[in-house]
Amino acid sequence: MTAPADNFDLVILGGGSGGYACAFRAAELGLRVALVEKDKVGGTCLHRGCIPTKALLHAAEVADSARDGAKFGVKTTFESVDMSGVHRYKDGVIGRLYKGLQGLVKSHDITFVEGTGRLSSPSTVTVDDRVLTGKNVVLATGSYAKTLPGVEIGGRIVTSDQALTLEEVPSRVIVLGGGVIGVEFASVFSSFGSEVTIVEALPRLVAAEDEAISKQLERAFKKRKIKALTGAKLASASQEGDEVTVTLESGDTLTADLLLVAVGRGPVTDDLGYAEAGVTIDRGFVITDERCRTGVPGVYAVGDIVPGLQLAHRGFAQGIFVAEDIAGKEPTPIEESGIPRVTYCDPEIASVGLTEAAAREKHGDSTTTYDYNLGGNGKSQILQTQGFVKVVRAGHTGTVVGVHMIGARMGEQVGEAQLIVGWEALPDDVASLIHAHPTQNEALGEAHLALAGKPLHAHA
Ligand code: NAI
Repeated sequence: MTAPADNFDLVILGGGSGGYACAFRAAELGLRVALVEKDKVGGTCLHRGCIPTKALLHAAEVADSARDGAKFGVKTTFESVDMSGVHRYKDGVIGRLYKGLQGLVKSHDITFVEGTGRLSSPSTVTVDDRVLTGKNVVLATGSYAKTLPGVEIGGRIVTSDQALTLEEVPSRVIVLGGGVIGVEFASVFSSFGSEVTIVEALPRLVAAEDEAISKQLERAFKKRKIKALTGAKLASASQEGDEVTVTLESGDTLTADLLLVAVGRGPVTDDLGYAEAGVTIDRGFVITDERCRTGVPGVYAVGDIVPGLQLAHRGFAQGIFVAEDIAGKEPTPIEESGIPRVTYCDPEIASVGLTEAAAREKHGDSTTTYDYNLGGNGKSQILQTQGFVKVVRAGHTGTVVGVHMIGARMGEQVGEAQLIVGWEALPDDVASLIHAHPTQNEALGEAHLALAGKPLHAHA
């Protein structure tokens, strides 16, 4: 029996980025909301993902600055990394954000239910013996770090979950997977002083990015003495004593103190009653239409359990979308290709829209591109960073359909890149905007000046 108090307009299963964003927006729109979470509100992003890893990456940058002082005429020495100090800093960041988020749950007057929920029917979520009934239900149970068959997580074989709490900096690390998590952790470990080898099955690192980005990253990693074995498939991994041994299909073996497995994240959808309630599941993912609706009336899904980019900001956007949809606001569906992507390794990668290859497929061989080398950008010279801004245009006269950037702090440029692609700007439109000098943002302006036929600080 449902207690009258347990009837809601909306019951949300999972309090991560997608779930809590949906809860906040729905509450703002006057809906009665229950949010079910078995762990802590904030989910992977706040507690085991975006926030802690970016804190580690910032500590890594500080370590590099200490090492590199002499390059700028400043006498500094790098002594060592104190992991307990790094964790104190990282956990302090998480703690403050967590407290803030808990405050937001309270101030939005959301019924927060702690416990493991299960979709017991298309309109009910059961948590222990409490039945929450919703006119609508949103599934937002997120993802977990996957491993490979035969590679058991434990001891010196870890995923990003355990890599966030290491007590010491390992001397040698093998990173299995050269995707987003792989290159971010490779970057951290290398800055912290580890000897790093990445093993990637595909022919290049960050294979989802434009090919030119992968090339530049591989070059930069080589300079940083991060070894990248691409086109290398794992045959087996084992650990004995203080050592992990990885054997590749080529027969080569590698040894290290730690093996970080970063081969993707899987959806958390097993044993939650989804399929039983009639929700379509494909390879573990919940299938939805462009309005985040599952095939079951009143049941929606958002975030990492829905096929597509597994990014916190996509989860936020989908959560807000669903709340507004339920409230009858008829929001516009989210365009997946307009979602900005940032990989926070050093050098940083930021992109939005189509890669050159995807644009050629969609718009044909007349697709135009322009690479603006950061060598001509004053601020990049000041920061001593290398890289480029690549702009992809549909045809010779069409709009900008993709922007791909690599170099220090490039993540901060993605906002403008997103507006350019999302608002279907012509290079001339952007060329007429004035970009502040000297900023790295200027590189984005210069790339468009060049594409508009009036290059300024561009070296062909
Ligand atoms: P991923 O899909 O980005 O990369 C996994 C990599 O592992 C792929 O390149 C794949 O080819 C490789 N791989 C798979 N099996 C292999 C094998 N047997 N041997 C060698 N290589 C193998 O997944 P990742 O890096 O684990 O990240 C998971 C998700 O989390 C991604 O969707 C990512 O977008 C998201 N994420 C986003 C971040 C950001 O926005 N900055 C940061 C961290 C994660």
